[in-house]
Amino acid sequence: MTDSPQTMTDDAVTESTEPIDEHQQSDVPEETKPLDVDSPTSTRELTMPNPVVGDDLERILAPAAELAELEARQISAWFGERKVLDRVDLTMEAGKITALIGPSGCGKSTFLRILNRMHEMVPSASLAGEVLLDGEDIYGATRRLTQARRDIGMVFQKPNPFPAMSIYDNVIAGLKLTGIKASRDVKDALVESSLIKAGLWKEVRDRLRQPGGGLSGGQQQRLCIARSLAVRPRVLLMDEPCSALDPTSTRVIEETMLELAKEVTIVIVTHNMQQAQRVSDNCAFFLAAQGTPGMIVEQGDTGVMFDSPTDSRTFDYVNGRFG
Ligand SMILES: Nc1ncnc2c1ncn2[C@@H]1O[C@H](COP(=O)(O)OP(=O)(O)O)[C@@H](O)[C@H]1O
Ligand SMILES: [Mg+2]
Repeated sequence: MTDSPQTMTDDAVTESTEPIDEHQQSDVPEETKPLDVDSPTSTRELTMPNPVVGDDLERILAPAAELAELEARQISAWFGERKVLDRVDLTMEAGKITALIGPSGCGKSTFLRILNRMHEMVPSASLAGEVLLDGEDIYGATRRLTQARRDIGMVFQKPNPFPAMSIYDNVIAGLKLTGIKASRDVKDALVESSLIKAGLWKEVRDRLRQPGGGLSGGQQQRLCIARSLAVRPRVLLMDEPCSALDPTSTRVIEETMLELAKEVTIVIVTHNMQQAQRVSDNCAFFLAAQGTPGMIVEQGDTGVMFDSPTDSRTFDYVNGRFG
Protein backbone atom coordinates (compact mmCIF):
# COMPACT_ATOMS: atom_id res chain seq x y z
CA MET A 1 0.00 0.00 0.00
CA THR A 2 1.33 3.43 -0.82
CA ASP A 3 1.71 6.20 1.67
CA SER A 4 -1.30 8.19 0.61
CA PRO A 5 -4.83 8.56 1.90
CA GLN A 6 -6.81 5.51 1.11
CA THR A 7 -10.50 5.76 0.64
CA MET A 8 -12.59 3.25 2.50
CA THR A 9 -13.01 0.02 0.64
CA ASP A 10 -16.41 -1.43 -0.16
CA ASP A 11 -15.63 -4.06 2.39
CA ALA A 12 -15.28 -1.50 5.13
CA VAL A 13 -18.44 0.30 4.13
CA THR A 14 -20.48 -2.87 4.08
CA GLU A 15 -19.05 -4.05 7.33
CA SER A 16 -19.65 -0.80 9.10
CA THR A 17 -23.38 -1.50 8.98
CA GLU A 18 -22.91 -4.61 11.08
CA PRO A 19 -23.41 -4.49 14.80
CA ILE A 20 -20.28 -3.39 16.52
CA ASP A 21 -19.32 -3.44 20.11
CA GLU A 22 -20.70 -0.32 21.70
CA HIS A 23 -18.17 -0.63 24.43
CA GLN A 24 -15.49 -0.09 21.87
CA GLN A 25 -17.03 3.25 21.01
CA SER A 26 -16.42 5.21 24.14
CA ASP A 27 -14.83 8.03 22.18
CA VAL A 28 -18.25 8.69 20.74
CA PRO A 29 -20.09 11.33 22.74
CA GLU A 30 -22.85 9.84 24.88
CA GLU A 31 -25.64 11.58 23.01
CA THR A 32 -24.60 10.16 19.64
CA LYS A 33 -24.56 6.58 20.85
CA PRO A 34 -27.34 4.33 19.65
CA LEU A 35 -30.19 4.19 22.09
CA ASP A 36 -31.34 1.09 23.81
CA VAL A 37 -28.09 -0.81 23.81
CA ASP A 38 -28.81 -1.96 27.34
CA SER A 39 -32.24 -3.24 26.54
CA PRO A 40 -32.66 -6.93 25.88
CA THR A 41 -35.24 -6.02 23.25
CA SER A 42 -32.83 -3.76 21.44
CA THR A 43 -33.37 -3.87 17.70
CA ARG A 44 -29.64 -4.27 17.38
CA GLU A 45 -29.93 -7.72 18.83
CA LEU A 46 -32.68 -8.61 16.44
CA THR A 47 -30.43 -7.80 13.53
CA MET A 48 -27.58 -10.02 14.68
CA PRO A 49 -25.61 -11.78 11.97
CA ASN A 50 -25.82 -15.56 11.84
CA PRO A 51 -25.60 -16.90 15.32
CA VAL A 52 -23.63 -19.73 16.75
CA VAL A 53 -20.94 -21.29 14.87
CA GLY A 54 -19.34 -24.38 16.27
CA ASP A 55 -15.92 -22.83 15.85
CA ASP A 56 -16.89 -19.92 18.03
CA LEU A 57 -17.94 -22.12 20.88
CA GLU A 58 -14.84 -24.22 20.64
CA ARG A 59 -12.81 -21.08 20.59
CA ILE A 60 -14.54 -19.75 23.69
CA LEU A 61 -13.89 -22.87 25.67
CA ALA A 62 -10.50 -23.77 24.30
CA PRO A 63 -7.36 -23.06 26.25
CA ALA A 64 -5.71 -19.77 25.38
CA ALA A 65 -4.51 -19.57 21.80
CA GLU A 66 -0.85 -19.08 21.08
CA LEU A 67 0.42 -15.66 21.90
CA ALA A 68 0.07 -13.28 18.99
CA GLU A 69 2.44 -10.68 17.59
CA LEU A 70 1.07 -7.44 16.20
CA GLU A 71 3.14 -5.52 13.70
CA ALA A 72 2.36 -2.07 12.34
CA ARG A 73 4.10 -1.28 9.08
CA GLN A 74 4.38 2.19 7.62
CA ILE A 75 1.19 3.41 9.24
CA SER A 76 0.13 6.89 8.22
CA ALA A 77 -3.19 8.45 9.18
CA TRP A 78 -5.25 11.43 8.15
CA PHE A 79 -8.31 13.28 9.35
CA GLY A 80 -9.50 14.91 6.14
CA GLU A 81 -6.44 16.45 4.55
CA ARG A 82 -4.57 16.65 7.80
CA LYS A 83 -1.92 14.01 8.29
CA VAL A 84 -1.57 13.04 11.94
CA LEU A 85 0.71 9.99 11.74
CA ASP A 86 3.65 9.48 9.43
CA ARG A 87 4.90 6.03 8.47
CA VAL A 88 4.97 4.45 11.90
CA ASP A 89 6.65 1.06 12.20
CA LEU A 90 6.21 -0.84 15.44
CA THR A 91 6.34 -4.49 16.41
CA MET A 92 4.33 -5.34 19.48
CA GLU A 93 5.84 -8.59 20.65
CA ALA A 94 3.74 -11.59 21.54
CA GLY A 95 2.98 -11.89 25.24
CA LYS A 96 4.70 -8.62 26.03
CA ILE A 97 3.35 -5.29 27.21
CA THR A 98 4.21 -2.43 24.87
CA ALA A 99 3.70 1.11 26.21
CA LEU A 100 3.04 4.02 23.87
CA ILE A 101 4.20 7.26 25.44
CA GLY A 102 4.37 10.86 24.25
CA PRO A 103 2.71 14.25 24.67
CA SER A 104 -0.99 14.79 23.98
CA GLY A 105 -1.97 15.13 20.36
CA CYS A 106 0.91 13.15 18.88
CA GLY A 107 -1.34 10.39 17.54
CA LYS A 108 -1.16 7.62 20.15
CA SER A 109 -4.93 7.07 20.33
CA THR A 110 -5.23 7.28 16.57
CA PHE A 111 -2.51 4.67 16.23
CA LEU A 112 -4.25 2.43 18.77
CA ARG A 113 -7.58 2.77 16.93
CA ILE A 114 -5.87 1.79 13.69
CA LEU A 115 -4.69 -1.40 15.38
CA ASN A 116 -8.25 -2.70 15.70
CA ARG A 117 -9.94 -0.96 12.77
CA MET A 118 -11.76 1.66 14.77
CA HIS A 119 -10.10 4.55 12.96
CA GLU A 120 -12.08 3.81 9.83
CA MET A 121 -15.31 4.44 11.74
CA VAL A 122 -14.40 8.10 12.17
CA PRO A 123 -15.88 10.24 9.38
CA SER A 124 -13.15 11.76 7.16
CA ALA A 125 -10.51 9.41 8.57
CA SER A 126 -8.17 7.53 6.27
CA LEU A 127 -4.98 5.56 6.61
CA ALA A 128 -2.15 3.85 4.80
CA GLY A 129 0.05 0.96 5.80
CA GLU A 130 -0.45 -2.53 7.17
CA VAL A 131 -1.30 -4.06 10.52
CA LEU A 132 -0.21 -7.67 10.72
CA LEU A 133 -1.64 -10.00 13.33
CA ASP A 134 0.65 -13.01 13.28
CA GLY A 135 1.71 -12.02 9.79
CA GLU A 136 -1.77 -11.45 8.33
CA ASP A 137 -2.94 -7.96 7.47
CA ILE A 138 -6.12 -7.19 9.43
CA TYR A 139 -6.99 -4.78 6.60
CA GLY A 140 -6.58 -7.51 3.97
CA ALA A 141 -9.37 -7.83 1.41
CA THR A 142 -10.65 -11.08 2.88
CA ARG A 143 -10.49 -10.01 6.50
CA ARG A 144 -13.63 -8.98 8.30
CA LEU A 145 -13.98 -5.99 10.52
CA THR A 146 -15.79 -7.99 13.19
CA GLN A 147 -12.98 -10.54 13.29
CA ALA A 148 -10.38 -7.83 13.81
CA ARG A 149 -12.48 -6.41 16.65
CA ARG A 150 -12.79 -9.78 18.28
CA ASP A 151 -9.12 -10.63 17.95
CA ILE A 152 -7.99 -7.22 19.10
CA GLY A 153 -9.97 -5.81 22.03
CA MET A 154 -9.94 -2.30 23.43
CA VAL A 155 -10.27 -0.78 26.88
CA PHE A 156 -10.71 2.98 27.20
CA GLN A 157 -9.74 5.74 29.57
CA LYS A 158 -13.18 6.12 31.07
CA PRO A 159 -14.69 2.86 32.29
CA ASN A 160 -17.78 2.31 30.17
CA PRO A 161 -19.82 -0.66 31.35
CA PHE A 162 -23.50 -0.65 30.45
CA PRO A 163 -24.61 0.89 33.75
CA ALA A 164 -28.06 -0.64 34.04
CA MET A 165 -26.99 -4.07 32.82
CA SER A 166 -26.00 -6.68 35.37
CA ILE A 167 -22.35 -7.45 36.03
CA TYR A 168 -22.95 -10.90 34.54
CA ASP A 169 -24.52 -9.55 31.36
CA ASN A 170 -21.85 -6.89 31.02
CA VAL A 171 -19.19 -9.57 30.86
CA ILE A 172 -20.93 -11.44 28.07
CA ALA A 173 -22.18 -8.36 26.22
CA GLY A 174 -19.49 -8.80 23.58
CA LEU A 175 -20.74 -12.31 22.82
CA LYS A 176 -24.21 -11.07 22.06
CA LEU A 177 -22.94 -8.22 19.96
CA THR A 178 -20.78 -10.49 17.85
CA GLY A 179 -23.61 -12.96 17.41
CA ILE A 180 -22.20 -15.85 19.42
CA LYS A 181 -24.75 -17.87 21.35
CA ALA A 182 -23.70 -20.08 24.21
CA SER A 183 -25.46 -22.32 26.71
CA ARG A 184 -26.03 -21.18 30.25
CA ASP A 185 -23.21 -23.37 31.54
CA VAL A 186 -20.78 -22.03 29.01
CA LYS A 187 -21.76 -18.49 29.86
CA ASP A 188 -21.37 -19.14 33.58
CA ALA A 189 -17.91 -20.56 33.02
CA LEU A 190 -16.95 -17.71 30.78
CA VAL A 191 -18.18 -15.05 33.18
CA GLU A 192 -16.25 -16.63 36.03
CA SER A 193 -13.01 -17.11 34.10
CA SER A 194 -13.13 -13.61 32.58
CA LEU A 195 -13.75 -12.00 35.96
CA ILE A 196 -10.95 -14.04 37.53
CA LYS A 197 -8.53 -12.94 34.82
CA ALA A 198 -9.62 -9.33 35.24
CA GLY A 199 -8.96 -9.60 38.99
CA LEU A 200 -12.57 -8.86 39.91
CA TRP A 201 -14.17 -12.23 40.66
CA LYS A 202 -13.72 -12.25 44.41
CA GLU A 203 -15.26 -8.81 44.76
CA VAL A 204 -18.37 -9.47 42.68
CA ARG A 205 -19.13 -13.18 42.74
CA ASP A 206 -21.95 -12.68 45.23
CA ARG A 207 -23.60 -9.91 43.27
CA LEU A 208 -23.37 -10.87 39.63
CA ARG A 209 -26.99 -9.84 39.06
CA GLN A 210 -26.48 -6.32 40.32
CA PRO A 211 -25.95 -3.48 37.86
CA GLY A 212 -22.45 -2.78 36.56
CA GLY A 213 -22.99 0.91 37.24
CA GLY A 214 -22.99 0.22 40.99
CA LEU A 215 -19.32 -0.70 41.07
CA SER A 216 -16.50 1.68 41.92
CA GLY A 217 -14.53 3.26 39.08
CA GLY A 218 -11.66 0.82 39.40
CA GLN A 219 -14.03 -2.13 39.55
CA GLN A 220 -15.89 -0.84 36.49
CA GLN A 221 -12.62 -0.67 34.58
CA ARG A 222 -11.85 -4.28 35.54
CA LEU A 223 -15.38 -5.19 34.46
CA CYS A 224 -14.60 -3.64 31.08
CA ILE A 225 -11.40 -5.66 30.94
CA ALA A 226 -13.42 -8.81 31.74
CA ARG A 227 -15.88 -7.91 28.98
CA SER A 228 -13.04 -7.56 26.50
CA LEU A 229 -11.51 -10.85 27.61
CA ALA A 230 -14.79 -12.78 27.28
CA VAL A 231 -14.54 -12.83 23.48
CA ARG A 232 -11.04 -14.28 23.83
CA PRO A 233 -8.99 -11.55 22.16
CA ARG A 234 -5.41 -12.21 21.20
CA VAL A 235 -4.39 -8.62 21.73
CA LEU A 236 -5.71 -6.11 24.25
CA LEU A 237 -5.34 -2.40 23.53
CA MET A 238 -5.66 -0.04 26.49
CA ASP A 239 -5.90 3.72 26.04
CA GLU A 240 -4.88 5.38 29.32
CA PRO A 241 -6.90 2.79 31.26
CA CYS A 242 -5.93 4.14 34.68
CA SER A 243 -5.94 7.88 34.18
CA ALA A 244 -9.43 8.20 35.68
CA LEU A 245 -8.59 5.96 38.66
CA ASP A 246 -7.10 6.40 42.11
CA PRO A 247 -3.60 5.02 42.85
CA THR A 248 -4.89 1.87 44.58
CA SER A 249 -7.18 0.92 41.70
CA THR A 250 -4.36 1.76 39.32
CA ARG A 251 -2.07 -0.72 41.02
CA VAL A 252 -4.72 -3.42 40.91
CA ILE A 253 -5.15 -2.89 37.16
CA GLU A 254 -1.39 -2.94 36.67
CA GLU A 255 -1.13 -6.25 38.50
CA THR A 256 -3.99 -7.56 36.38
CA MET A 257 -2.16 -6.51 33.22
CA LEU A 258 1.02 -8.28 34.28
CA GLU A 259 -0.99 -11.48 34.80
CA LEU A 260 -2.87 -11.07 31.54
CA ALA A 261 0.27 -10.66 29.48
CA LYS A 262 0.86 -14.37 29.92
CA GLU A 263 -1.98 -15.01 27.50
CA VAL A 264 -2.74 -11.76 25.70
CA THR A 265 -0.42 -9.33 23.97
CA ILE A 266 -0.99 -5.90 25.50
CA VAL A 267 -0.51 -2.40 24.10
CA ILE A 268 -1.10 0.45 26.54
CA VAL A 269 -1.08 4.21 26.08
CA THR A 270 -0.01 5.93 29.26
CA HIS A 271 1.04 9.40 30.36
CA ASN A 272 2.30 7.99 33.61
CA MET A 273 6.01 7.35 33.26
CA GLN A 274 6.15 5.30 36.45
CA GLN A 275 3.38 3.12 35.09
CA ALA A 276 5.21 2.63 31.79
CA GLN A 277 8.25 1.54 33.76
CA ARG A 278 6.31 -0.72 36.11
CA VAL A 279 4.32 -2.62 33.53
CA SER A 280 5.87 -2.46 30.09
CA ASP A 281 8.53 -4.60 28.48
CA ASN A 282 8.89 -2.34 25.48
CA CYS A 283 8.19 1.30 24.88
CA ALA A 284 7.59 3.54 21.88
CA PHE A 285 7.96 7.29 22.17
CA PHE A 286 5.63 9.23 19.85
CA LEU A 287 6.17 12.88 19.07
CA ALA A 288 4.61 15.41 16.70
CA ALA A 289 6.77 18.46 16.17
CA GLN A 290 4.86 21.70 15.65
CA GLY A 291 2.67 21.41 12.57
CA THR A 292 3.93 17.96 11.57
CA PRO A 293 2.36 14.52 11.89
CA GLY A 294 3.18 12.21 14.77
CA MET A 295 6.00 9.70 14.42
CA ILE A 296 7.99 7.38 16.61
CA VAL A 297 11.20 9.02 17.79
CA GLU A 298 12.55 5.98 19.57
CA GLN A 299 11.38 2.51 20.55
CA GLY A 300 12.81 -0.48 22.33
CA ASP A 301 13.31 -2.11 25.69
CA THR A 302 11.64 -0.05 28.42
CA GLY A 303 14.66 -0.15 30.73
CA VAL A 304 16.92 1.18 28.00
CA MET A 305 14.42 3.83 26.93
CA PHE A 306 14.31 5.19 30.46
CA ASP A 307 17.89 4.71 31.56
CA SER A 308 19.91 5.36 28.45
CA PRO A 309 17.79 6.55 25.53
CA THR A 310 19.53 7.30 22.27
CA ASP A 311 17.58 10.42 21.40
CA SER A 312 17.82 13.55 23.57
CA ARG A 313 14.09 14.18 23.05
CA THR A 314 13.30 10.80 24.61
CA PHE A 315 15.58 11.64 27.53
CA ASP A 316 13.82 14.97 28.05
CA TYR A 317 10.35 13.43 27.83
CA VAL A 318 10.89 10.48 30.15
CA ASN A 319 12.48 12.85 32.65
CA GLY A 320 9.44 15.11 32.64
CA ARG A 321 11.08 18.02 30.87
CA PHE A 322 8.14 18.52 28.50
CA GLY A 323 4.73 17.19 27.51
N1 LIG B 1 -11.94 12.61 15.19
C1 LIG B 1 -10.96 13.47 14.86
N2 LIG B 1 -11.12 14.37 13.89
C2 LIG B 1 -10.14 15.23 13.57
N3 LIG B 1 -8.95 15.26 14.16
C3 LIG B 1 -8.71 14.37 15.14
C4 LIG B 1 -9.70 13.42 15.56
N4 LIG B 1 -9.19 12.67 16.57
C5 LIG B 1 -7.95 13.12 16.77
N5 LIG B 1 -7.66 14.15 15.92
C6 LIG B 1 -6.37 14.87 15.84
O1 LIG B 1 -5.36 13.95 15.54
C7 LIG B 1 -4.17 14.26 16.27
C8 LIG B 1 -3.78 13.03 17.09
O2 LIG B 1 -4.75 12.84 18.11
P1 LIG B 1 -4.72 11.61 19.11
O3 LIG B 1 -4.48 10.39 18.34
O4 LIG B 1 -5.96 11.69 19.92
O5 LIG B 1 -3.44 11.95 19.98
P2 LIG B 1 -3.01 11.43 21.43
O6 LIG B 1 -3.81 10.23 21.74
O7 LIG B 1 -1.55 11.18 21.31
O8 LIG B 1 -3.30 12.56 22.38
C9 LIG B 1 -4.49 15.47 17.12
O9 LIG B 1 -4.01 16.61 16.47
C10 LIG B 1 -6.00 15.49 17.18
O10 LIG B 1 -6.47 16.79 17.29
MG1 LIG C 1 -5.09 9.82 23.37
